Amino acid sequence: MNTPLTVVILAAGLGTRMKSRQAKVLHRAGGRTLVEHVVNTALQLAAPERLFVVVGHQADEVRAAVGTPGVGFIEQKEQKGTGHAVMVGRAALAGLGGNLLILYGDSPLLRAETLRRLVAIKEESGAAGVLLSAPMDDPTGYGRVIRDAQGGVQAVVEQKAGTPEQLAIREANMGIYCYGADCFWKHVDEIQPNNPPREYYLTDMVEILRRSGHAVAAMTIDDAREALGINTRIELAEVDGLLRERKRSALMLAGVTIENPPTVTIDDQVEIGMDTVVGPFVQILGATRIGENCRIGAGAVIDNCQLADGVKINPYTVISESRMERGAEAGPFSRMRPGAVMEEGSHIGNFVELKKTRLGAGSKAQHLAYLGDSTIGAKVNIGAGTITCNYDGRLKHATAIGDGAFVGSNSTLVAPIEIGPGAYIAAGSVITDPVPADALALGRSRQTMKEDWARKRRELGRKKTV
Ligand code: UD1
Ligand code: CA
Repeated sequence: MNTPLTVVILAAGLGTRMKSRQAKVLHRAGGRTLVEHVVNTALQLAAPERLFVVVGHQADEVRAAVGTPGVGFIEQKEQKGTGHAVMVGRAALAGLGGNLLILYGDSPLLRAETLRRLVAIKEESGAAGVLLSAPMDDPTGYGRVIRDAQGGVQAVVEQKAGTPEQLAIREANMGIYCYGADCFWKHVDEIQPNNPPREYYLTDMVEILRRSGHAVAAMTIDDAREALGINTRIELAEVDGLLRERKRSALMLAGVTIENPPTVTIDDQVEIGMDTVVGPFVQILGATRIGENCRIGAGAVIDNCQLADGVKINPYTVISESRMERGAEAGPFSRMRPGAVMEEGSHIGNFVELKKTRLGAGSKAQHLAYLGDSTIGAKVNIGAGTITCNYDGRLKHATAIGDGAFVGSNSTLVAPIEIGPGAYIAAGSVITDPVPADALALGRSRQTMKEDWARKRRELGRKKTV
């Protein structure tokens, strides 16, 4: 392709039909904002310097969501329609010549391949422009493609402006166009807001160009789903579903077993190694990377985590921004908050919470514990009910536990505190002073015994025992 290509993505609208305070293109499908999907696809055709996004509603947030450096932004202060959105870009765009590919920021399923074909048709056909169309069972809400007796594209008529006969047409405009830039800019001002909502419709360009003797072609795709434009939350859910399905299929083809796939949610950027098994109702989110031969149990939620090979996550475990090394195991019902690291072969079990804590190789906390701001060595045993008191109401304090230490059940470790390697903490202790290596720390009151107390009480019947 020798003709230079400029891409402009319209993303300024609020999206009234979403019934949201958030701009439509900031809503997420498949784990990314809608605008990110379209930008990423466009970047496969054009360098960032030739890619422009028209922003308006929540312009700063949309700019931030785009992320890629070098992408240009055009501000549309008032949203007066898709035609107006392109018009406001004249200063930035008109001088660039070549072809102008216009996309809407609310069609995240689009594939780069389809756009390439569209541009190629524009080049080969010699038409002034090409639009993408598809037959739809229910095209309600879409513009309809009106053809003349010879089958040539004559106009696009919007839902709100169409006659009953026009609205009966099933060929829908997908909102993707490639125009010869010079011709486009020459005629764009002929778009007028002469329709019920008084908007400048970009779709009017088709008729305008036809009137001045140019041809506009259509490239028809069979499956309209690819260009589905999201207007409502129902469509958002539909597109999210399709993106999730694409992701699951790609992973399964790459050797990941997914049980009951429709119930499993996996974000776009997630990577999973071969022979890992993902159970039903699992969510794997963000930039999570999972190794080979892992087992992710039912209902687990994993957000932005790194899991090495052979890691086992038992059902209903929730972990975020944490790392698990080879063969580590968590759950059922464990929680890892940001900054947790489980070294090789370590285990946490039900109702164990880690936060900013490193659990050394082979160490175990099998039940009911809170370990925060702690560094725990290798082969440590943390008994049920152990709590690190890491917060004094003002500041967080650290706990350090040496290799091979044994922390008895229901211990309360008041940080800052250090427990030496090989030390023992008696069950039920409140530990406030450092425990040297290999020592036994008893931090509890002695047991008192009252011989025969219970028998005497029974004999006294209802009378009060002393
Ligand atoms: C549009 C098309 C319709 C097509 C459909 C495909 C027009 C007039 N209609 O309708 O023919 O079938 O898409 O999905 O183009 N936007 C702006 N500024 C504005 C208005 C909109 O940037 O002033 C952006 C929106 O943020 C959105 C995109 O343009 O990303 C499309 O706008 P939308 O209102 O969704 O158009 P549709 O009514 O769906
Ligand atoms: Ca739309």
